[in-house]
Amino acid sequence: MTTQPLRTAIRGVHVMNGTEDLGVRTAVLSDGRIEGYDLDGPFDVEVDGSGLVLTNAFIDPHVHLREPGFEVKEDLASGLRAAAAGGFGTVVSMANTDPVIDNPEQVRGLLEKAADIPGARLRPAASLTFGLKGERLTDAAALQEAGAVMLTDDGIPVADSDVMRRACEWAADLGLVVQTHSEDPSLRGAGVMNEGAVSERLGLPGNPREAEAVMVFRDCQIAAMTGARVHIAHVTCRQALDVVRWFKAQGAPVTCEVTPQHLTLTDEALAAFDPMVKVAPPLRTAGDVEALTEAFVAGEVDCIGTDHAPHTLDEKRQDMLSAPFGIANIEVAFPLLVETLVQPGRMTLQALLHRFQHGPADVMGWDAPSLEPGSPADLVLLNLNDARTVEPHTFLSKAKFSPWEGDALHGWPVQTWVGGRSVFERG
Ligand code: DOR
Repeated sequence: MTTQPLRTAIRGVHVMNGTEDLGVRTAVLSDGRIEGYDLDGPFDVEVDGSGLVLTNAFIDPHVHLREPGFEVKEDLASGLRAAAAGGFGTVVSMANTDPVIDNPEQVRGLLEKAADIPGARLRPAASLTFGLKGERLTDAAALQEAGAVMLTDDGIPVADSDVMRRACEWAADLGLVVQTHSEDPSLRGAGVMNEGAVSERLGLPGNPREAEAVMVFRDCQIAAMTGARVHIAHVTCRQALDVVRWFKAQGAPVTCEVTPQHLTLTDEALAAFDPMVKVAPPLRTAGDVEALTEAFVAGEVDCIGTDHAPHTLDEKRQDMLSAPFGIANIEVAFPLLVETLVQPGRMTLQALLHRFQHGPADVMGWDAPSLEPGSPADLVLLNLNDARTVEPHTFLSKAKFSPWEGDALHGWPVQTWVGGRSVFERG
């Protein structure tokens, strides 16, 4: 980023994160870092933080920014700004673009372009196989050298178990995270929603939980076999959770995430044949939402991965069979979970912050987010006091529609800093 960050004071703000609570302070940022607390001026910028919470900006290990190739849905600029509006300071972008991010030049190109965008920091993933074809392994070492932080064919399951094994062997040597889209392609078949009472009622092809559980088992087994750090994306059901729990108990190097939609919506949301909530893996039942919530609250799920998956409104307005899978959510992810989990007292604010900060940092093997002086000034100011309605036309994402339109939520980000530079301010 080009502009020089200014010396900033955020006055009278409650400073806390997933593990620390420093109480009400004046936080001072300079040279891209937290300089300290309750320091003397002069300051170039002063922000009134009274009644607000200042915390480490969030980390999202799973976003689709669509550039190159699908800029009509999202691009780096809109996606990174939308992420900052959601309180995120760092996002890991998926490789299912056109062309696919499968070579080092593309990784470098993304990083160069993102460096000039005032928004969240970009840490790109690269694909595990060339062209997401599931056949030839990409050059993991060269991709890592170029700046890729993860290998994943997300969007498409890696069907060939030996390909998965070889990729994990490389990744284990390099210390790279392998993220999986764990769905057995043949069991999943042409399913467009969860297989169960609702899919039967609607007469739509179902995708059973077993398709997910079987593949999660394989992917965890390969993690145990190779020692690779395998991250299971978007876990949606009790069976898959049980598998992850069992492997974790054996000491396998596996982690997992849940998405905001799988924690808040069920397959009943599709009852009006609304492809807006068509997503892969699919929304499940109320029982699964409860199982995910319990595991998330208990810390058995490592973090939130938004799987922010923007498409155009025209694409999402097609019929249930033709519309693409995916929900855009990065700007509402945190307030949505404040409203559904913290407000009713199911989990503390600190525990939720942990799943957006330390949780994903641990998954990625990055330094723990910290509020200590000297730490990077990647910060977000949150308003927990006032409810605000989801108004998709105000989104910075190109996907200006949302399953949560009209919902009144607490916990909206008010301002986000990345490297001490203000990259988002709610108007
Ligand atoms: O619903 C989804 N949409 N799931 C994925 O795994 C991919 C994503 C996309 O790229 O649209």
